[in-house]
Amino acid sequence: MRGMDIELKNVSMKFGDFTAVHPTDLHVKAGEFFSILGPSGCGKTTILRMISGFLHPTTGGIKIGGEEMTGVGPHKRPTALIFQNLALFPLMTVWENVAFGLEMRGWEKTRRREKAFELLDLVALGDQGDKIPDELSGGQRQRVAVARALAVEPAVLLLDEPLSSLDLKLRQHMRSELRDIQRKTGVTFIYITHDQGEALTMSDRIAVMKAGVIEQVDTTDRVYDAPATAFAATFVGANNVFRGKVTSLDADMAVVETKYGALRARNPQNQAVGNKVVLFVRPEKMQVLSAVDGEENSIAVEFERRDLEGPFVNLFFRRGDDVFSAHLVNAGDVAHDPSGQKGLCFAPEDGMILPVGDLADE
Ligand SMILES: Nc1ncnc2c1ncn2[C@@H]1O[C@H](COP(=O)(O)OP(=O)(O)OP(=O)(O)O)[C@@H](O)[C@H]1O
Ligand SMILES: [Mg+2]
Repeated sequence: MRGMDIELKNVSMKFGDFTAVHPTDLHVKAGEFFSILGPSGCGKTTILRMISGFLHPTTGGIKIGGEEMTGVGPHKRPTALIFQNLALFPLMTVWENVAFGLEMRGWEKTRRREKAFELLDLVALGDQGDKIPDELSGGQRQRVAVARALAVEPAVLLLDEPLSSLDLKLRQHMRSELRDIQRKTGVTFIYITHDQGEALTMSDRIAVMKAGVIEQVDTTDRVYDAPATAFAATFVGANNVFRGKVTSLDADMAVVETKYGALRARNPQNQAVGNKVVLFVRPEKMQVLSAVDGEENSIAVEFERRDLEGPFVNLFFRRGDDVFSAHLVNAGDVAHDPSGQKGLCFAPEDGMILPVGDLADE
């Protein structure tokens, strides 16, 4: 199997007056594990349906492996799709499920069976082929669906939230399984999810999408460390938020006047003096202080709550109506008993200033 690249040029989708996907350019590389990440209703499935050919774009064109796909039906495209709610055929054995697409293509039984077991091996189910789907666990059924989709040797596998029906433990396990299968086959995966943890652990690159618009396409590290928008900064991972106005600039840093005083941070998008901005600090970059004594970027707060995560603790502090959080390794006095802590601070290089925009939870 070999992956192909996918290119969207000016692709948009309108349903009546409603624009589900605004004009979008996107290039997914051959053999890449690419995720589209965004909240419910932002247009993820719509993009996938256009790539698979079940939906015709209102504007623009899609190329797969360099070939224009306009006018090419879903079954003629080098793609396979795994739906949000997958369904296996309950009365067929596992191997027959996997081989279903091959029967449609006229493969005879011995060859079908051989190919099906080869694919079941690939998804670590080589010894389960003669069972029926009801005799498998949820995660195993999901892997059967992947094997079935791979049977027709697609160059591109489109996965629409395939893990959403599984419980958390299984979902986490399946992340590495899927990643493994992708690496072994070299097939291009386009993976849709609203779960940022899923997108970060599995992908080479992520597109962050909001209300029909892709706001950022980047490597996982870049999306987390250098979010392009206020939405991306708050949808992917947690962030502390300070609103204010830029009052001075200093090389690649800027000072922002906030209601808690002047705070200094990185200014990657060159916000000018006078601009209204949002300053973000990741909880793991927040330092906890027993007292505030004029340190740069410090604010006085009151301790509110400690959430134990096992190896980590999340500490929540309050100032007026604002809640701030710090994420600490679960070791040492402060992590064990933060009740006496009175302040938070951060290094200027650990804060990031971005233009004002909608936050993920607003
Ligand atoms: N056939 C349709 N006719 C009219 N509106 C549609 C149609 N399909 C989707 N929409 C609308 O387009 C928007 C995007 O839908 P889409 O299914 O792409 O969202 P999504 O990002 O996949 O969401 P979810 O995470 O809930 O699956 C939604 O507001 C939806 O109501
Ligand atoms: Mg969807």
